[in-house]
Amino acid sequence: MRVDVVTIFPEYLAPLDLSLIGKARRTGILELAVHDLRTWTHDVHRTVDDTPYGGGPGMVMRPEPWGQCFDDLASPSTHLVVPTPAGAPFTQDLARAFSSDPHLLFACGRYEGIDQRVIDHAATRMRVSEVSLGDYVLFGGEVAVLVVMEAVTRLLPGVLGNADSLVEESHSAGVLEAPMYTKPPTWRGLDVPEVLRSGDHGKIARWRREEGLRRTAAQRPDLLSHLEGTGFQIPGVDV
Ligand code: ADE
Repeated sequence: MRVDVVTIFPEYLAPLDLSLIGKARRTGILELAVHDLRTWTHDVHRTVDDTPYGGGPGMVMRPEPWGQCFDDLASPSTHLVVPTPAGAPFTQDLARAFSSDPHLLFACGRYEGIDQRVIDHAATRMRVSEVSLGDYVLFGGEVAVLVVMEAVTRLLPGVLGNADSLVEESHSAGVLEAPMYTKPPTWRGLDVPEVLRSGDHGKIARWRREEGLRRTAAQRPDLLSHLEGTGFQIPGVDV
């Protein structure tokens, strides 16, 4: 997969050199480049922003540098991803969809955002998704790119050793994962649940399914709303 990230703070993306994303880059699974938007400015001050039409506080990113940048970096097979609090919620389903795109191009907005014509014009030439990490406002899109790239990179073939860990994890089946334990069997007076040490794989799978459902009902009841009125029962929980 090819990924380009455009930002006015390239240093913000330094973590993309580390850990498993860094390894995916070194092994050629991921070809990733970070670009400074100011490369596509032509004035001495390398200006990227201006005051908003219609008034109001803050600054808006001017369209010209973005337009020239996309002329250089994008093709019809590019998927432009614009992190913004006004976007659609970023979910595991979106991560899965992005992970099969041949080319992701991230446009990191700052200030009050990017002139809307940049997104509207790009949409005439390529696929565009505006995505939000959640219902809060960050300074810009850079941290969102780090989050999206973690979620996407771990789904690329060859990145995770054990493909089963993708099948069983939280959100892969619309429910949260059951709690996990390792050695020692007793720690500070707290025991690992007996069933996990029973060796009975059928019982363990059933326990994990029920614990996952119980956890989902407690932490994220919204994920179970489709079960309302179906008579579906979670042991010990009223859905
Ligand atoms: N940029 C600013 N806030 C954001 C958010 N909540 N999600 C994605 N990008 C953003």
